[in-house]
Amino acid sequence: MSPSHAGPCSHHTGPVGRDEIIHVDCASHRYPDGSLGIHQMCFSVRRGEIVALCGSNGSGKSTLIEHLNGLLTPACGRVVVNGNEVGAGDCTDLWKTVGVVFQRSEDQLFAPTVLDDVMFGLRNLGFSPEEARERAQKTLDLLGAGDIAAKMPNYLSGGQRRLAAIAGVLAMRPDVIALDEPTSDLDPRHTAIIEEVVRSIRERDGISVVLATHDLDLAARLADRVCIIHNGSIIAEGTPREVFHDEEALRNAGLAPPLVVTLYRDLCRQGLAKPGVFPVTPDELAAQISGMSHDPSAPGNVVAGTEAEYRTGTGR
Ligand SMILES: Nc1ncnc2c1ncn2[C@@H]1O[C@H](COP(=O)(O)OP(=O)(O)OP(=O)(O)O)[C@@H](O)[C@H]1O
Ligand SMILES: [Mg+2]
Repeated sequence: MSPSHAGPCSHHTGPVGRDEIIHVDCASHRYPDGSLGIHQMCFSVRRGEIVALCGSNGSGKSTLIEHLNGLLTPACGRVVVNGNEVGAGDCTDLWKTVGVVFQRSEDQLFAPTVLDDVMFGLRNLGFSPEEARERAQKTLDLLGAGDIAAKMPNYLSGGQRRLAAIAGVLAMRPDVIALDEPTSDLDPRHTAIIEEVVRSIRERDGISVVLATHDLDLAARLADRVCIIHNGSIIAEGTPREVFHDEEALRNAGLAPPLVVTLYRDLCRQGLAKPGVFPVTPDELAAQISGMSHDPSAPGNVVAGTEAEYRTGTGR
């Protein structure tokens, strides 16, 4: 296994890549009380890419996300969004480009009803009241939360509040959506809905998604690229297959591997799975165990990447 271990400012420093919508270049941020938020953080997001941020509590995931929409600015280094440096010059439209769903979703809701809240951003984008109401209701319906439209945000349950906050950002269709622990208080049905919605907005609208999560199994199923954050910096990054089978990186970050990876290792030890395949999703593990063919065109046959894909980094 040779995942890309990211040293400080090793490979993102320099010009913004052509297809990068977000480019964080060696950015550091310390909070007023002296706490380290991020340190020499180098991070990028390409158009239409789903990137997962994984790291232990206090590693810097939320601090990084709060730099992406200008809520925080780095003390040194820079954050470039859509070619414009955040904090330098006119960034008034940044909110249209990067929509953030904060970890504390209660801070995000302020209108009298959930529907008003979801409509708020749309009205600011210039939608008429009727258009905004229709799109807001549709977005809530899409998230399986249509029934809370008339409720007061203060009276929502934790998970309902989360869904309302996600709807508010999703409805605006920004170029990038950053979701900070979006499923931490959702039930399995709504978690599955969020997973599907993330997939579809990327497929259909080419929206990039940044996902901070402690659910490594979710990250394994969804992300094109995983960044492991530790002490405010990225210490490893690559495909889920590369990163989640990198025992050393996970150990250094204080993370346990996804369930599939743990199961796969156990099965290999018992001679029940073939070493060197590196599955990261349940489907890949099942395919490996049942010896299904590696024919990606077979209907419903979601299989592990081939060895060649793995070596060239084209597999997922
Ligand atoms: N407003 C603040 N003032 C002072 N320190 C802060 C503030 N917000 C975060 N920190 C500190 O910055 C560091 C990074 O915190 P951050 O919230 O980014 O971590 P995280 O990776 O999102 O953690 P979690 O998984 O718990 O959400 C932590 O040490 C935290 O205590
Ligand atoms: Mg956080």
